[in-house]
Amino acid sequence: LDSAQTTAPFPIPANTFVETVTEVEHYTDRLFRFRMTRPASFRFRSGEFVMIGLPNAEKPVLRAYSIASPSWDEELEFYSIKVADGPLTEHLQKIKPGDQVLMRKKPTGTLVTDALLPGKRLYMFSTGTGVAPFASLMRDPETYEKFDTVVLLHGCRESAELAYGTQIVTQTLEDPLVGECAAGRLHHYTCVTREDHPRRMRITDAVTSGRLFSDLGLPPLDPEVDRVMICGSMEMLKDCRTLCEDAGMQEGSNSAPGVFVVERAFVD
Ligand code: A2P
Repeated sequence: LDSAQTTAPFPIPANTFVETVTEVEHYTDRLFRFRMTRPASFRFRSGEFVMIGLPNAEKPVLRAYSIASPSWDEELEFYSIKVADGPLTEHLQKIKPGDQVLMRKKPTGTLVTDALLPGKRLYMFSTGTGVAPFASLMRDPETYEKFDTVVLLHGCRESAELAYGTQIVTQTLEDPLVGECAAGRLHHYTCVTREDHPRRMRITDAVTSGRLFSDLGLPPLDPEVDRVMICGSMEMLKDCRTLCEDAGMQEGSNSAPGVFVVERAFVD
């Protein structure tokens, strides 16, 4: 047993790591991120998710969280919503450095470059906390080895909710490892729906109207060269899936790589 395990008040479930929070940052009353230690044996592919929870009950509540840090990072980062009566997030939103977090040992997910056929441009469509897996992928040099151009499309209700995405893009461009590959190739396109904003629209409207492409100087979605990853609410996934299918794109998976892949963002 390591020291973390001996201080937990409840027995640790099987196949579960106990990690220590190193950093917490709150963005709005609904959103925050935290970082924690990474077990030496833990491997994952950028874009995957893992089950996390708190050691506060005999049978702890665990929820799927996309890992927001890249696979090379020595710590793990997560981006989370706060729900007042959410079974996990009502407690998780109160964590502080030094607190313990449970994490199941096996990562999984379809928002990985392995589930996409080779292509030229990677579009990452996200709303709300759906930006998390892309925070991982955009910081991974492998993403730029596989794609010439990477476009992060992020839609939120209010501008303040775009802060994490903006921070990660800035960090990526300043990063000694990936900054140089990302320079001029990583595009960040934001939309806001519930307050005044130069792009007050849903991300789906930015795509179907063609505004995304004209603003970035890129051609419309082309199934031959464009690849799409989608992460957001159930409704958002449904609309984005339709949009991709209408563009003649086929959905992929780990066992059968395709032109676009889909995953639901965490909701408590
Ligand atoms: P809207 O304000 O029009 O609902 P949420 O916080 O509810 O997950 O929403 C995050 C963002 O996603 C909001 O800007 C919201 O717009 C937008 N959104 C909600 N449903 C869809 C959808 N089906 N397609 C695209 N964007 C959506």
